Amino acid sequence: MVDHVIETEHLKMIYPGGLEAVKDLSIKVRRGEVFGFLGPNGAGKTTALNMMVGLLKPTKGRTLIDGEEVKPWSKTVKEKIGIVPQETILWENLTCTENLMLLANLYEVPKEEGQARTARLLEELQLTDKADARAKALSGGMKRRLNLAMGLVNEPDVILLDEPSPGLDPQTRRVLWEYIADLPKKGHTLILTTHDMDEADYLSDRVAIIDNGELLVLDDPRKLKASVGEGDVLELAFDEGADLHKAADDFASLGFIISANVTAGRVVIRTKDAMSRLPEVFEFVKEHDSEIRDVRYRGNTLEDVFIDLTGRALRDGD
Ligand SMILES: Nc1ncnc2c1ncn2[C@@H]1O[C@H](COP(=O)(O)OP(=O)(O)OP(=O)(O)O)[C@@H](O)[C@H]1O
Ligand SMILES: [Mg+2]
Repeated sequence: MVDHVIETEHLKMIYPGGLEAVKDLSIKVRRGEVFGFLGPNGAGKTTALNMMVGLLKPTKGRTLIDGEEVKPWSKTVKEKIGIVPQETILWENLTCTENLMLLANLYEVPKEEGQARTARLLEELQLTDKADARAKALSGGMKRRLNLAMGLVNEPDVILLDEPSPGLDPQTRRVLWEYIADLPKKGHTLILTTHDMDEADYLSDRVAIIDNGELLVLDDPRKLKASVGEGDVLELAFDEGADLHKAADDFASLGFIISANVTAGRVVIRTKDAMSRLPEVFEFVKEHDSEIRDVRYRGNTLEDVFIDLTGRALRDGD
């Protein structure tokens, strides 16, 4: 039997003013998995997360953690959940160590244990040499990592990460991804939100795609990608002024093309064995007195899944 650590039942949030930010969210998070919410800006990810941990009272519905209903600021939540909010929150005038120790105190972690955890977390998140630096003297990426450490200091069963890596350089992002990916091995369950399809794909065991407050689909990222269709994708950029929709229609008439669409200013064609078809594609374009400026070749991504479901690109929402 699958062991669920969190279960939401018909969560709904209507903000004052009438905006329905989350419509009817029922999900079950498995113990020990990385569960990703993927959706564009404003999809309702933060709202959903905040309701799940009792920071925001739902208009309707409820959340169960280990079968117990979440109440705002309840002991269960405090003991079992660690949340790393989207907006970095630190005490700017305290050092890294002091920030962590202050939080350990709030969580009533015994002092020596708190010190040991603080030292370990600083080490794991590569902040040891900044242990005695004030938070205000850290770079943005370091602040983000300190914030993650602060969410872990009470060693919660479930960790919620709201957009773990915006603004990080690619290398720091990788370090953070590796660290996050390891957390389930240490017994944690992870729930994260992101509008970055690569992040969702790399980290999540299962992904819930949400848009306009609605859960569109929930599955293993590999299965989601496979569901979009067979074949590989070629993204073609044309010179300015080209009629992209006509180009897509022309491509669609070719026998070996599975589908052709226009997305984010490019003609996106799907075909089996795309690489070997490239000469034919170029020839075809030339025959139509057009010119290709740039070609990208790739397999399916979660972005394709999003486009398939909504007709829009995720990145359009950025
Ligand atoms: N306190 C609030 N009062 C009114 N509307 C709000 C409030 N907080 C969020 N919203 C609205 O609810 C919708 C969902 O917002 P939310 O922050 O949950 O989205 P998100 O998916 O986390 O987006 P992002 O990727 O930008 O973080 C948005 O339209 C937003 O403007
Ligand atoms: Mg958000």
